[in-house]
Amino acid sequence: MSIETPLPMTNRILVTSALPYINGVKHLGNLVGSMLPADVYSRFQRQRLGAENVLFICATDEHGTPAELAALEEGLAVSDYCAKWHTIQKTLSEGFGLSFDYFGRSSSPENHALTQSFAQALWEGGYLEERTTRQVFSPTDGRFLPDRYVIGTCPHCGYDRARGDQCENCTRVLDPVDLIAPRSALSGSPDIEIRDSKHLFLKQTAFEVRLREWIEGKRAEWPSLVTSIALKWLDEGLQDRGITRDLSWGVPVNAAAWGANPSGAKPDVEGLTGKVFYVWFDAPIAYIGASAQWGKATGGDFESWWRGEAARDVTYVEFMGKDNVPFHTVGFPCTLLGVNDALPPAAHWKLVDELKGFNWLTYYGGKFSTSQKRGVFMDRALELLPADYWRWYLIANAPEGSDSSFTWPLFAATVNKDLADVLGNFVNRVLKFAVARFEGVVPEGGQWGEAEHALAKALDQRRTQLGDLLAAREFRKAAQELRAIWVLGNEYITEAAPWTAIKTDRDKAAMAVRLGVNLIHLTAHFSSAFIPASAHAIHTAVNGAVDLLPWPGGPIADELTQIGPGHRFAVPDLLFRKIDDAQVAAWEAEFGGEG
Ligand code: MF3
Ligand code: ZN
Repeated sequence: MSIETPLPMTNRILVTSALPYINGVKHLGNLVGSMLPADVYSRFQRQRLGAENVLFICATDEHGTPAELAALEEGLAVSDYCAKWHTIQKTLSEGFGLSFDYFGRSSSPENHALTQSFAQALWEGGYLEERTTRQVFSPTDGRFLPDRYVIGTCPHCGYDRARGDQCENCTRVLDPVDLIAPRSALSGSPDIEIRDSKHLFLKQTAFEVRLREWIEGKRAEWPSLVTSIALKWLDEGLQDRGITRDLSWGVPVNAAAWGANPSGAKPDVEGLTGKVFYVWFDAPIAYIGASAQWGKATGGDFESWWRGEAARDVTYVEFMGKDNVPFHTVGFPCTLLGVNDALPPAAHWKLVDELKGFNWLTYYGGKFSTSQKRGVFMDRALELLPADYWRWYLIANAPEGSDSSFTWPLFAATVNKDLADVLGNFVNRVLKFAVARFEGVVPEGGQWGEAEHALAKALDQRRTQLGDLLAAREFRKAAQELRAIWVLGNEYITEAAPWTAIKTDRDKAAMAVRLGVNLIHLTAHFSSAFIPASAHAIHTAVNGAVDLLPWPGGPIADELTQIGPGHRFAVPDLLFRKIDDAQVAAWEAEFGGEG
């Protein structure tokens, strides 16, 4: 199968979606900000390149204080809590048709090993520095407290429930030691000590020049949303970054295994005992860790996707919300550059080649909120309607150029107009008529006239556009282009009107039905990255069940005549049902709408 817009030199594509945090069900904003577009893109690339040439990796991001506290609230050991929520998230992602080649865990043994070996390489390369920091310790809780779990009176405004990182009342940034009458947010105990604690800092400043050069080189290619965030961080000057924490859940700092750094110093093993790496240090490494899990599960060679010479034909594409961009353009690249410094080029780990960032999806202009349960979450969404309704709405309205707002009326209008009135109606009208008048067999007779040639020409242009837009990860525009293909089919059949033609000109009706069935068949292929379940249902009805619907890149006249006279087909079950005003009102009442 030929490809209209070949990617330069590329044979394989590695795709990662930002790793969803473990604590609870993700909302539609999380979904459209990384996992869903990454899925559409991966599915499209499999169509073009073959499934074996795409590796799509995701995982749950499981470490850090929020996981520890959520576990505490549920009364579970944090490892049990994470196992439970990993399974829930995996099931929901399957429900949404997210076609990860592997959905791993940042807490996997593979990620532990990689994180520890990367840290060791950074230490031995001279990129880590030990510093003694002052941390809040609660003897009552028996643990160090992260800044935001210390509360007290704000020294600036007198607000008595100010958090140790920031006062909610006057918004000033605070240090927990600034608080008057500090106490633990966990136990409420005022018994608080400040203790010295050893920590490791990654010397990000050492990478500043290389990072800037790298980002500058991406300016023409990457969305300006992404490069402007990265350059802003570089312009403000990089800070050395603490990569360890005083927590018990996480990847343990394994300093005893490390050698000397270039100045001959060994790490302070005792001072670093009992610490773990900061969640934002190990989470991006889990892209590789989850790839290693995939390798173990499938026998695949994950390093051939990630390292040196073997991965030269791989383009690595990341998807994420804009808040994640600094960690992926500065934090993680610093880790990899530092690790690579000790390795021969043939063993270098890959840095990201293409980075797609998203703005926010809002709920009626406000924030989707996990803590306040505001908005629509993945579990409830699937209880209301099949995944494809959500997938289509979200991709067609993706927050690409700017934020975009979810509202129930817009959701209903998009589903009704695009899916039911255009696509569903087109497929149904043609196939029902063809079953009624031609017994479910593609008829012979008639030949292409002006209308058919015009249609073929228009379709040829549209598929090139659609392919180019998907390759460029322009999802809203790609969805418009796909919709335009559905409209083409609908308009063709309306004008050809086989139901009228059959009365006077059977050949003309047969011609229209034959082309109609072929158009529906191609529509399934073009739509499958967006609405996979519906596309497969359509394909199964007209041309059998197939795992992967390849991208139809051949000469358009051939593509449109693949299904010939005598071929049997069926009518798929109702593809899309409409959402009426009463339903919209009911959902607005249940989930909260405007005002
Ligand atoms: N869990 C983070 C979030 O929800 C994303 C982590 S992306 C990774 O914002 F690369 F660090 F894994
Ligand atoms: Zn204040």
